[in-house]
Amino acid sequence: MRPSLSPVFRVLAAGNYHSDNENGGIFRPFHPSCPQLGPVGGGFVPSPEVWRCDCFTFIQSFCSPNCVEIETLIALLGASGFVGSAIRREIHLAGLEVAPLSRRIVDYYNPAALAEVLRGIGADFVINAAGYTGRPNVDACELRKTDCLLGNAVLPGRINDACQRVGIPWGHVSSGCVYTGERPGGGGFREYDPPNFSFRTNNCSFYSGSKALGEEVLADAEECYQWRLRIPFSEHDGARNYLSKVQRYPRLLDVRNSLSHLGDFAKACLASWLKRVPYGVYNLTNPGSITTREVCELISQTVAPGKEFDFFADEAEFMAVAASTPRSNCVLDTTKATQAGIGMPPIEDAIERALRNWIPEAALAAV
Ligand SMILES: NC(=O)c1ccc[n+]([C@@H]2O[C@H](COP(=O)([O-])OP(=O)(O)OC[C@H]3O[C@@H](n4cnc5c(N)ncnc54)[C@H](OP(=O)(O)O)[C@@H]3O)[C@@H](O)[C@H]2O)c1
Repeated sequence: MRPSLSPVFRVLAAGNYHSDNENGGIFRPFHPSCPQLGPVGGGFVPSPEVWRCDCFTFIQSFCSPNCVEIETLIALLGASGFVGSAIRREIHLAGLEVAPLSRRIVDYYNPAALAEVLRGIGADFVINAAGYTGRPNVDACELRKTDCLLGNAVLPGRINDACQRVGIPWGHVSSGCVYTGERPGGGGFREYDPPNFSFRTNNCSFYSGSKALGEEVLADAEECYQWRLRIPFSEHDGARNYLSKVQRYPRLLDVRNSLSHLGDFAKACLASWLKRVPYGVYNLTNPGSITTREVCELISQTVAPGKEFDFFADEAEFMAVAASTPRSNCVLDTTKATQAGIGMPPIEDAIERALRNWIPEAALAAV
């Protein structure tokens, strides 16, 4: 189904917000029943029955003491996470408003509670970047199976329920890790190919299995995008960035993969809704694929001249030495996204750009 284009305008009248200097200048809305501020009459309060003062810090990004006109408000779940932060940055760059939602603010596993907040803030679109990934890596998901199932398989269905109650579309950050290898006959997996690295094929990590279940849960969701991210990288050096991991791991496994530049991914997620492309699953990786050795080659030509990389002999040695659960290494086909007009730049270009604009972690920390 193709979503309709209907811009929503809301005006938050002057005088509805209170500058809370103790909280770093965050503006809080006036509310007649606010215990901290006391009764304040005359203000325009949208949906007063759901506004509670203790849940307002999350809307600081669009609060202002002055009149604010909001064309579009995106509620973002998991905004504090690695992927959520990148999406939040992209929403700002696009000049749109974001309401970052965290579990501390609303129990977003509860559809009624989430629906109430979404209705209250007047969200036009919801993005789910929340989920359970395991620390320091997916091996941890084998030990935290309940969290993993709740975050990746149950939560997407709960959010879909909440969005249906309010009648708003939404997008879910899924993963390409539901596949392994290449499509039979060669090339990348298409969106309609059934996952071959899942509980149903009985060969997967618990993490990949939970992500595949999440996609199954959403198979019939009507106003929903599922965006498949895969091995995120960017120009920002850091523990979660694939280009940094490759430089920091003592030994590497040489495998072919499709990858996603995090900023390109976030842009494509936003574009899918802004351009009202049809709902459904999209492989959002940079077109093409690349091996670990090829990535190392690009790194040693740019940010780490002369660096030598050490490799495992094969996957068996990698599994024996460095991992406790199988990893997904796979190639995805991106034709659907390209044809819909939300395609990303080719993989070599995206990696070269990230390395050209590389910001070392020490420099990032100083900012
Ligand atoms: N990073 C990757 O390599 C990668 C690759 C492909 C797909 N993905 C998917 O992208 C999504 C976000 O991943 P990420 O790397 O940004 O993860 P992250 O840094 O761990 O952030 C995930 C966020 O999810 C929320 N959350 C909800 N339930 C949770 C739970 N039970 N345990 C921990 N956090 C929970 C937390 O936000 P609040 O506490 O603020 O609510 C947290 O900040 C996940 O669905 C993941 O499967 C990630």
